[in-house]
Amino acid sequence: MTAGEVSRSGKPAVVAHRGASVDHPEHTLAAYEAALREGADGLECDIRLTADHQLVCVHDRTIDRTSDGEGAVSEMTLAQLRQYDFGSWHSGTPAAVLTLPELLELTLDWRRPVRLFIETKHPVRYGSLVEQRLLETLREFRVGSPPSADHSRAVVISFSAAGIWRIRRSAPMLPTILLGETVRGVSAGAATAVGATGIGPSVQALRTHPDLVDKAAAGGRVTYAWTVDQREDVQLCADLGVRWIATNRPAQVRDWLVTV
Ligand code: G3P
Ligand code: CA
Repeated sequence: MTAGEVSRSGKPAVVAHRGASVDHPEHTLAAYEAALREGADGLECDIRLTADHQLVCVHDRTIDRTSDGEGAVSEMTLAQLRQYDFGSWHSGTPAAVLTLPELLELTLDWRRPVRLFIETKHPVRYGSLVEQRLLETLREFRVGSPPSADHSRAVVISFSAAGIWRIRRSAPMLPTILLGETVRGVSAGAATAVGATGIGPSVQALRTHPDLVDKAAAGGRVTYAWTVDQREDVQLCADLGVRWIATNRPAQVRDWLVTV
């Protein structure tokens, strides 16, 4: 079986969005370990650059919402970020900031193949530095040059068309997904322009434009839908042939997938 292959015939594979992030603080080791134990086929994370150019898994520009500290990730070193607690705000249990290398280690060492969906945040602000550091890190873990997109353990996803294009140029075999807030953002034209291997519409966009999936497939592209936490949306994605669904509730969604 290739990494993160669709595991239930014809049904979407489950990607844990920020880990099992309903039950655990997002982007922490506890959230990702829980998702893996719950049987997730893939893990999603957001990455940001610290002041000393380390890649950490944090969604927001600042750490205010998800830690006991405050300030922008880009203005703190990794050593400074390690002084803060990223868990207690959610469940009362302390947790450290998670780095991309730490998450790669967990994912690649897991007892079955799992794919890591890595979302670059605000690459425009940093020019190509986020992608450069990401590709360096993937190469260190020997996942930067897969023999084919199907065999890759990492998928780079982004709302930034420029960011996706830079990845495709430097690492043509790495799968990439162009995310979009709007239907136009994930159109066949937009994906073709940057060479993305998949499109990533929100599930809200799929409700009004279900044809996006077939149009992507006609161009040889898979669809990754986010964020799919409701049963009716799981059903919709299964009916449409969505390949990956990102959810904050992987265990629940896996249960629903048995009967859709
Ligand atoms: O997986 C894509 C999704 O995470 C994009 O939105 O804001 O949660 O990063 P956001
Ligand atoms: Ca994300």
